[in-house]
Amino acid sequence: MDLLPIPDSWYVLNTSEKIKNGSIHVHQLAGKDIVVYRTQSGVVKVCEPFCMHLGAHLGYLGKIEGENIRCKFHNYCYDAEGICIENNRGPARNPKLRLKYYPSVEQNGRIYCYYSALNQEPTWNIPFIDEEMWTPIVYKTMHLDSHPQETAENSVDISHFEAVHNYQNIELIKPLEIDGHVLRVSYAADKLVFNKPLRFFFDIAVYGLGVSIVETRVPKLSLELREYILNQPLGDRKLDILLGVSLKIPAPNMAKFLSPVFKSVLERSYAWLTSLYIHQFFYEVNMDHKIWMYKKYIPNPIAGPDDKSILAYRKWCKRFYPHLVNGEGKENAS
Ligand code: FES
Ligand SMILES: [Fe+2]
Repeated sequence: MDLLPIPDSWYVLNTSEKIKNGSIHVHQLAGKDIVVYRTQSGVVKVCEPFCMHLGAHLGYLGKIEGENIRCKFHNYCYDAEGICIENNRGPARNPKLRLKYYPSVEQNGRIYCYYSALNQEPTWNIPFIDEEMWTPIVYKTMHLDSHPQETAENSVDISHFEAVHNYQNIELIKPLEIDGHVLRVSYAADKLVFNKPLRFFFDIAVYGLGVSIVETRVPKLSLELREYILNQPLGDRKLDILLGVSLKIPAPNMAKFLSPVFKSVLERSYAWLTSLYIHQFFYEVNMDHKIWMYKKYIPNPIAGPDDKSILAYRKWCKRFYPHLVNGEGKENAS
């Protein structure tokens, strides 16, 4: 763990609803403050916090004016491109004074920002997720003492499902598949529910080291769940995970035949189940957290019989540290 810096990746900063029009927020990413603001017309911007004039913190001294942001230290004002267009004496465009923006995108009701240790532009994007026939996502943040690579490794660490999460008869349905920045794997496992084994099927997709989405099916209960594990690396060994859950609304093509009252009751019941389920999901991830917080990162482990996926995952992870020699610790001289 100590060898790993923050990997280059897209990370969720916040949900859209938390960033209102005309508001400015301070977030942490990779040990630094970053400023997230939304202009009056609704455009989200993510920038370095310091005013280019004399370095005041725009998270505390900024003010949104239409599409611009003004620094209230000496009243310098920056336009939608981040170029300074006014100083303390009035209009004075000066492209040399320009705010530094991070690549960012607002998608699926979430605001993402791309972090790169070498300030490189992203070569891939977060895919749009079709969430239409799913209940509104319920979120809960977990604060951890860990690292994005460690938490994302959980998805491919098949042998821990029995020891930590009490699953049995674990079966690899689709072996780990890598497609550039995306990793996928599918497996099935039994869990005892009221003393009876229930078969769960998991389809996991990991996008960079920031976003993991698990789709879980329980055919016997006609249940489909979606779990979001959204890493927010605040700094060295300081990580928040925005956990989210959503339930698939059953038989969406039947919805048009349902009376409005019945449809509304059904939707509310599912929304209520979703809000209950986030606690179960939080509990499950917390089992892992107790391990992550004390464990040490072993860069070249002696693999056990079921660790093939972990080794493939570790190899894949190296692409997210372009500034390291072989992705293993030593800083690249260039
Ligand atoms: S430091 Fe921002 S206007 Fe002077
Ligand atoms: Fe786990």
